[in-house]
Amino acid sequence: MKHLLGIQHCTAQDLERIVEIGEVAKRDRKNKNATNRGILANQTWAMIFSKASTRTRVSFEVGVREMGGSAIYLSSKDMQLGRGEPIEDTARVLGRMVHGAIIRTFDQSDVETFAEYSGIPTINALTDEEHPCQIIADLLSIREKFGTWEGKKIVFLGDGDNNMSRSWMWAAERLGFELVVAGPEMCLPDAAFRENFTKGNVSFSSDVDAAVADADVLYTDVWVSMGQEELDDAGREEQLMAFQVNDAMLAKAASNAMVLHCLPAYRGKEITEAVLEARADEIFTQAENRLHAQKGVMQYLLSRG
Ligand code: CP
Ligand code: NVA
Repeated sequence: MKHLLGIQHCTAQDLERIVEIGEVAKRDRKNKNATNRGILANQTWAMIFSKASTRTRVSFEVGVREMGGSAIYLSSKDMQLGRGEPIEDTARVLGRMVHGAIIRTFDQSDVETFAEYSGIPTINALTDEEHPCQIIADLLSIREKFGTWEGKKIVFLGDGDNNMSRSWMWAAERLGFELVVAGPEMCLPDAAFRENFTKGNVSFSSDVDAAVADADVLYTDVWVSMGQEELDDAGREEQLMAFQVNDAMLAKAASNAMVLHCLPAYRGKEITEAVLEARADEIFTQAENRLHAQKGVMQYLLSRG
């Protein structure tokens, strides 16, 4: 695996290995002799972003620097890409100048085309289809708390048909843990997509109480993803409210359940202020883990080069 295009494209071994490298990166962050020190020396990585970002952008910029390389942040609006230059041409130009690319955009096919035409390691930093880098940080966070994801019940709540929920489904398919995607029927994936998950460990539910019973991880995300603002309507939000992560829901989960949110959070919508603040330590550790996980991704891709 030379590129990280999506969790769908990873094997269980890829995911386990990336998380392990990320764990070492976390442990050794301050160690001057860490194995990842200098592995990006003399390298420049391009970060092409067509959507806003705080965590992904900063974690990659800092991660590249801490591994000895430089990152160039390129807003697609300021590139000729934004004026219609084809992705194939952009990829062939950058492939001759930089050593890796980190892309946040709308169409999954744009990241895949870039990877094909550039020939350099290409990382999906979020598309409408998937957010693989976030999942890797989340897996690292779950293992940090529980020691394993095996045998855990993870419940994804809210908009069950977005990039985060889809990446979770692929992660469960590959790694075998139990995943319940819980949301109003209108926010669950269609039958054709569900057919990808046939092993029995991924299920879909609009019964919130059954979904969260004895859950080890309650996971939520914004109800309206970037670029999908047309979905934002009062009727949909009213239905989603039953899946809000709040104290009453938490009381039904396992007593040591973890609350995770990829952030940014909208308090009073997908999560209450009270739960977010009570669980701030684990949620912001999850955000910090983006940095360690990104290092795991880049080191792994280089090792497979
Ligand atoms: N969770 C996440 O990807 O955050 P950003 O949009 O801030 O990068
Ligand atoms: N589903 C969200 C994730 C943000 C990190 C979005 O795409 O906006």
